[in-house]
Amino acid sequence: MANNQEIPQEKGLDHTIALLREGYDFIHKRKDKYNSRVFQTRILGEKANCLIGEKEAELFYDNSKFSRENAAPSRIQKTLFGQGGVQGLDGDEHHHRKALFMSVMTRAMLDEIKELTEVEWNRAITRNQTDELIVYNEAKHVLTNVAMRWVGIPKQGTEDEWVDELSDLFEDASAVGPKHWKARASRTKIEEWLQQLVLDVRSGKLLIDQDRPLYQFSYHRDLNNQLLAPEIVAVELLNLLRPIVAISVYVDFTVLALAQFPQKVDILRQGDEGDDKQLQYFIQEVRRFYPFFPFTVARVRNDFDWNGYKFEQGTLTLLDLYGTNHDPDIWEQPEQFRPERFENWNGSPFNFIPQGGGEFDIGHRCAGEWLTIDILKVTLNYFVNKISFEFPEQDFTYSMNDIPSLPESKVIIKNIRKK
Ligand code: HEM
Repeated sequence: MANNQEIPQEKGLDHTIALLREGYDFIHKRKDKYNSRVFQTRILGEKANCLIGEKEAELFYDNSKFSRENAAPSRIQKTLFGQGGVQGLDGDEHHHRKALFMSVMTRAMLDEIKELTEVEWNRAITRNQTDELIVYNEAKHVLTNVAMRWVGIPKQGTEDEWVDELSDLFEDASAVGPKHWKARASRTKIEEWLQQLVLDVRSGKLLIDQDRPLYQFSYHRDLNNQLLAPEIVAVELLNLLRPIVAISVYVDFTVLALAQFPQKVDILRQGDEGDDKQLQYFIQEVRRFYPFFPFTVARVRNDFDWNGYKFEQGTLTLLDLYGTNHDPDIWEQPEQFRPERFENWNGSPFNFIPQGGGEFDIGHRCAGEWLTIDILKVTLNYFVNKISFEFPEQDFTYSMNDIPSLPESKVIIKNIRKK
């Protein structure tokens, strides 16, 4: 291809409304329209490159070409991510902070969160046996308890308050108007409270185990050997608490998959503990198939040429996560739910990217991906092998432009019994 070719451009002043309307389909529809995996549009008043596909993901995760500083829109930072957290860091500073997150993802810590998840599901189901239960709502309670115990946060206030406030941060992250302001208020309230906990840990007023993330994060030192400001520790603690509760979205889709693809369930019924490989394939397919994070964002670090296209310094760039997971060049019959496809998956860090791609340590790949898979495997095994239930008549449809998207009914189950 010739050098310095223009990236195909979508005409018009701004396409934010189309992005909101078309949601998860926005980028891959335009890939077909422009017959290009790289094109340019305009979002929130600025020029934005869009990328989709495996090679394009590899490009996006090249730290010498893209930076995260000021990439996420500020309204998303004020709700979903918080300000000053690992998502917006680059280079050595990012690597050092990310190592803190990965240091709490040891096998022992992951085993512990698996145990906590089963204990909490058991408690929830014991409470609800024979009744009707809305899986999404129950999952948020279960995972809030799991998150608080695992991170080391002492109980204060009611469980409902915690569930509501942590949920506000991801359910209404992209909302406008009152919901956005409610999410901001929830963040401010939780951050202030977490800051106080950090000060209490540091002063010795609150004694907690050294292996708890609350302790580890409170005493983490930056590259200048300084403790982090309590405001930053609070943001990073929320980077553990919030997404653990957000796994409820995947829990809901996992149980939805049991209803929608019953022919894929028998293979999961193998003894009390299930077959680990089959559980893993099913969960991977849930994360590939259903919509959650549509795309992730960065900015071009310096001008560069790639495949004949010129990328200009500072340009906002979106990598399509959902579209890459449904790319027919990567996935055979991507619109079919087939967990067995993962038997032959080549394990590339760039072709299966529901939680981002690339490396965990020097890249921005989701710090909680292993934890997410483990929690979902325990939950799937619990629903398939430890309880029985039925699906009443309900609306399983889900939209392709809500973020996060959820089945209309949030998945209701009834006649629940322990096996
Ligand atoms: C609920 C399921 C989850 C989804 C769909 C998800 C998705 C993502 C995505 C798309 C990214 C950005 C990747 C990028 O920009 O390249 C990310 C980053 C991150 N996630 Fe998750 N995540 C989930 C669960 C978790 C959990 C359970 C944790 C922690 C316990 C977590 C912690 C993080 C952190 C700290 C980052 C920032 C990493 C960095 O910037 O280096 N996530 N996640």
